[in-house]
Amino acid sequence: MKVKIAKNAGFCFGVKRAMNMAWQELEESKNGIYALGPLIHNKQAVSVYEDKGLMTVNDLNEIPQHENVIIRSHGVGENIYLEAKDKDITIIDTTCPFVKKIHKLAKDFSDKGYKIIVIGDKNHPEVIGINGWCSDDAIILKTLEEAKSLDLNNDLKYCVVVQTTINLDLYNQIIDVLSQKSKHIIFKNTICAATKERQQSAKEISNEVDCMIVVGGKHSSNTQKLVKICSEVVPTFAIETKDELNIDELIKFDTIGITAGASTPDWIIEEVTEYIKSI
Ligand code: F3S
Repeated sequence: MKVKIAKNAGFCFGVKRAMNMAWQELEESKNGIYALGPLIHNKQAVSVYEDKGLMTVNDLNEIPQHENVIIRSHGVGENIYLEAKDKDITIIDTTCPFVKKIHKLAKDFSDKGYKIIVIGDKNHPEVIGINGWCSDDAIILKTLEEAKSLDLNNDLKYCVVVQTTINLDLYNQIIDVLSQKSKHIIFKNTICAATKERQQSAKEISNEVDCMIVVGGKHSSNTQKLVKICSEVVPTFAIETKDELNIDELIKFDTIGITAGASTPDWIIEEVTEYIKSI
């Protein structure tokens, strides 16, 4: 049985960087470290970090003074930095540099008097964080219909930024609509290529194998998207860990492809790969 692993499977640059930074801090800490919100949406990975001393909280008030707190790759609003300073809590900032760049744009343009428009999901932590750099005053929209029904004021200047994982086609459609509505609007394409690259690699490898295995959380939307892309080409199995593999099914295939969602650590992908190779 041959195994092929998709390029760009699993963690993107930003998540890998954040997870490595968090691990290093945990190795150096004696009493464990707090994280504001779950580090990542993968329960197997989080439990390994918890065994090492990670304590997840949802509010800075749950953290005693003089402790450290990890800010995850999604980033947070400016108020969290100020609140931590007030409470004498040290921030270990693993915010992805691409997200940091959006924070800076939101702050700089809002300071210059621009109204910020964020294309993204208003409930997503990344978007909540971005909004926190322009006084929680951004217009947030995520569909073409919302863009079409938006009224823009000709006396105002607007700056549009984008959640990093938004689809480029949708972004292009929305900027077409918004640019008709205001003369004083500038667009900053802050989409990160990682999601698209992972999806493209999944599609490419699906065309070279007899079946695909997609490793990732059942509730992870980017994993489910990969499952959809692969299953349009070959039979596809979605699993969280190697224990869910069905050997009787797999032995029907000669070449098996593997890809993984954005929250799946390398060691889980390796476990799956080694297990299949051993069949
Ligand atoms: Fe990942 Fe950072 Fe892009 S977290 S998806 S590399 S914006």
